[in-house]
Amino acid sequence: MKWNKMLHGGDYNPEQWLDRPDILAEDIALMKKAGINCMTLGVFSWSMLEPEEGVYRLQWLEDIIDRLYEAGISTILATPTGGLPHWLTKDFPEVMQVREDGGRNLPGKRHNFCYTSKKMRERTKEIDGKLAEMSLRHPGIILWHISNELGGNFADGACHCDECQRAFREWLKRKYGTLQELNKAWWTTFWSRRYTDWEQIHSPTPGGECLVHGLNLDWRRFVTCQMTDFLRWEKAALREYSSLPVTTNFMYFFKPLDYCEMQKEVDVISWDSYPFWHKEKDEVPMAVKAAAYHSMMRSMKKKPFLLMESTPSAVSWRNCNPLKRPGMHMLSSMQAVAYGSNTVQYFQWRKGRGAFEKFHGAVLDHKNGENTRTFREVAEVGLRLAKTQKQIVGSCNRAEIAMIFDWENWWALEDAAGPRLDINYKRVFLKHYRAFWEMGIDVDIVNMDGELKDYRMVIAPLNYLYKKGYADKVERYVESGGVYVTTCFSGIVDENDLCFIGEHPLGKVLGIRSEEIDAPGEEFRNLVDFHGKWYNTGELCEIVHNENGQTLAAYEKEYYAGSPAVIKNEFGRGNAYYLAAEFEQVFYNDFYGGLMEEMGIENPLSAKLPYGVTISERKGERDIIFLQNFRDENMEVETAGRYEETDTGMLWEGKITLGAFECKILQRMEGKVNE
Ligand code: GAL
Repeated sequence: MKWNKMLHGGDYNPEQWLDRPDILAEDIALMKKAGINCMTLGVFSWSMLEPEEGVYRLQWLEDIIDRLYEAGISTILATPTGGLPHWLTKDFPEVMQVREDGGRNLPGKRHNFCYTSKKMRERTKEIDGKLAEMSLRHPGIILWHISNELGGNFADGACHCDECQRAFREWLKRKYGTLQELNKAWWTTFWSRRYTDWEQIHSPTPGGECLVHGLNLDWRRFVTCQMTDFLRWEKAALREYSSLPVTTNFMYFFKPLDYCEMQKEVDVISWDSYPFWHKEKDEVPMAVKAAAYHSMMRSMKKKPFLLMESTPSAVSWRNCNPLKRPGMHMLSSMQAVAYGSNTVQYFQWRKGRGAFEKFHGAVLDHKNGENTRTFREVAEVGLRLAKTQKQIVGSCNRAEIAMIFDWENWWALEDAAGPRLDINYKRVFLKHYRAFWEMGIDVDIVNMDGELKDYRMVIAPLNYLYKKGYADKVERYVESGGVYVTTCFSGIVDENDLCFIGEHPLGKVLGIRSEEIDAPGEEFRNLVDFHGKWYNTGELCEIVHNENGQTLAAYEKEYYAGSPAVIKNEFGRGNAYYLAAEFEQVFYNDFYGGLMEEMGIENPLSAKLPYGVTISERKGERDIIFLQNFRDENMEVETAGRYEETDTGMLWEGKITLGAFECKILQRMEGKVNE
């Protein structure tokens, strides 16, 4: 990377203001006041860069890049493919996406092109090439930002046009070789769905075939593969001239695209984070979600990532858009940094005057210049990043625990038509994650392909689908001393979504035999007694037999009363735990709390944290501890150590007091209290 600082800035659209040189001059002056050192240019600028096919107007962009550079502000330069100009969609309608109902979208909005279209790729290569060639003249540019939130505007992000159908069939031919193999993998003898000609294969659609799970799963894989190919295409166009690193901005756990696959094409991960703060009085559920998303972005490359977008105040696309309360902007920004971000970037620098995002939060509003609370809070973030960057920039979180979150599992699980149609992977996953958030212990979030042996404990909730080789990997992991926790409805199907026949693929490791699974209605919910405390079970209760392990809890009610609900099995040098039911949150807190105690893993302050307070730590030359309070009131944390606030130099011994929505950045000092 060409930079060695924390970046602070965001999406800047000077092309909306080219007839207002006074505003452009004011922008740069105010950016300096706000402590901004990096702007993202060119997102959605295609019609201003190429107003007609083959006619390029790059000078305005070059001028701005240079003026920013002179002011000490770098540029992240986006390729403009997120928004299509009218000449392109009018002359070449085939660049527009086709919906799953077969209708082609009309021009408009954004993120809605066909990623297979030859014409789209041809025009993309031209404009990207021009930008890349231009970039050689401008040292201010530090990073390529490919397109914008790929796949982000339509229900499943996919295009169903004829070109895509052909590409899908080719992809299937490469994968299966013969139709016989494909029919076997998709179990098409069921309902007479056998294919006898590749041409009969069509993408899943509600008006046609959508109940062959193997087809659905392969289609989703293909969509990721094709979108990734488009990303690779754009990267190649840039690479003809430029060797600068590339990124593309991801969005949370975005179901249509397997980011663990896509990330392989980018040099650095970036993503856009818009938590719904102040949705309810209790900010913890939102803080947990945001922390999980940040953790996943970091875990994909096990390196710092870039927070590419966040709002400095409110968004404008929810039904109700609360302003960030005083302090929340700093806390939310520091939360990203705490989990591994090396940037705080915003959407957007200045509110536009018209169209869909004119009221979306921005550093500058329509009338007040720097005289706003938002501007002041942004400037405070800028100052804080500048003060702490030396310590933070080279550091990164190093978790001892991993949770498996896998897109292929997600797709197959929620399509399974099993015990419930509304199984929600993310909801259940976040319950497990939350237990660690509440303890202030960092967790990596990886997919099934990840290396397990780097971790002391691996947790795989609702791990329905096992990729090829996964069960063997887990077996070796536990055998050589790892701790593995998994749950009901795991190890059910192989990579083709075909049910395993016979014993559970991890039966020996888990010490169980699974018989059947109940999805009890609300009035039939069960209970377990775990270490003398009662816990409610949730939406799934699996009836399993303990073949070899130790039953730690059993069901209390129903015909399966007495059958095991939590089983521990010693296997090789490690331990495996099977949670046969879904439980209420407090169970996970207690269960994992106990395991952490047994394993001697604690948070970086070795502190018992009050509700709403958490910790994340970046390891570096000196470790940086981010102590975050998501409560709108002062909170106290008892520690046994001595700590220095990195930005203020303030010293704390023993008890640390946090203000409402405060994040302290701390470093350990030698010695203990009263020494
Ligand atoms: C993002 C998008 C930005 C802006 C923002 C508003 O999803 O990348 O361009 O629209 O949302 O919150």
